[in-house]
Amino acid sequence: MTNKKTVKSGIIGTGFSGSFHFEAIKKVYGTNVEVQGAYAINGEHLKEYTKTRDIKAYLDVDSLIDDCDVVHVCTLVASHEELAIKVLKNDKYVILEKPMTGYCGDGTIADIMTSDIVMGGIHNQLEVCTNNHRTLCNINPNTAMQTYNPVDANFKDIYTVEKACTKQGWAFTSPNEDWFTGYPQEMEAFYRTVAYGDPVECDSSLGADCIMTIYCAYLSAERKGQEVEIELL
Ligand SMILES: NC(=O)c1ccc[n+]([C@@H]2O[C@H](COP(=O)([O-])OP(=O)(O)OC[C@H]3O[C@@H](n4cnc5c(N)ncnc54)[C@H](O)[C@@H]3O)[C@@H](O)[C@H]2O)c1
Repeated sequence: MTNKKTVKSGIIGTGFSGSFHFEAIKKVYGTNVEVQGAYAINGEHLKEYTKTRDIKAYLDVDSLIDDCDVVHVCTLVASHEELAIKVLKNDKYVILEKPMTGYCGDGTIADIMTSDIVMGGIHNQLEVCTNNHRTLCNINPNTAMQTYNPVDANFKDIYTVEKACTKQGWAFTSPNEDWFTGYPQEMEAFYRTVAYGDPVECDSSLGADCIMTIYCAYLSAERKGQEVEIELL
């Protein structure tokens, strides 16, 4: 298509999430996305990341922001606020990497389970029980495919699933982890908003509602399971 708009983007933070953001950007098809480069405080990360992707390594965050329409903030949570505000003050779009995007904004009642001591990797599961249907989403552990490997070394060069510390025994090997987690779909939606003004599917008010929901879960745990009202924005 020749009438696609071109959007310039940049990435701050070149670790785990900086990598899957880059992959998801590459799959955007409604817009031409040109990745200008990346910046990270860890110089070694930055060097390797930009070299393998053949993009520019920025030595300061302001130059990266200047060169981009959209900035992906893929750093650790403590620096999110400062970086996001910096990008927004420069009148650029920011895509902020947060781990949770669940939503119950319609008066739905949700049960939230939290624990500091659950082993076995990430749990991204959603069960929707309504008065007319029920849906189970096993995003991670993903149950579309499971593998059994008797010896860890057999899978030395094989990626199974995020944050699995062993590949021995049964594994919930995700056939397409990025797709199941929704990264390419959300990136497509973000860039359609930036390029063509499509209504945004997921913005900072959703982020704030998620934080509020998580905070209420902690309050409830502190109060020995007492019900805590969630005030959505
Ligand atoms: N499945 C998911 O959705 C998922 C998975 C992992 C992490 N995350 C989220 O991604 C974010 C980053 O986690 P990660 O695992 O990629 O971390 P990471 O440690 O792998 O990478 C962090 C990167 O940010 C850089 N950095 C840190 N502080 C910075 C600053 N102030 N300015 C510039 N660069 C800075 C570091 O140099 C490094 O390159 C977190 O918010 C985390 O919760 C989401």
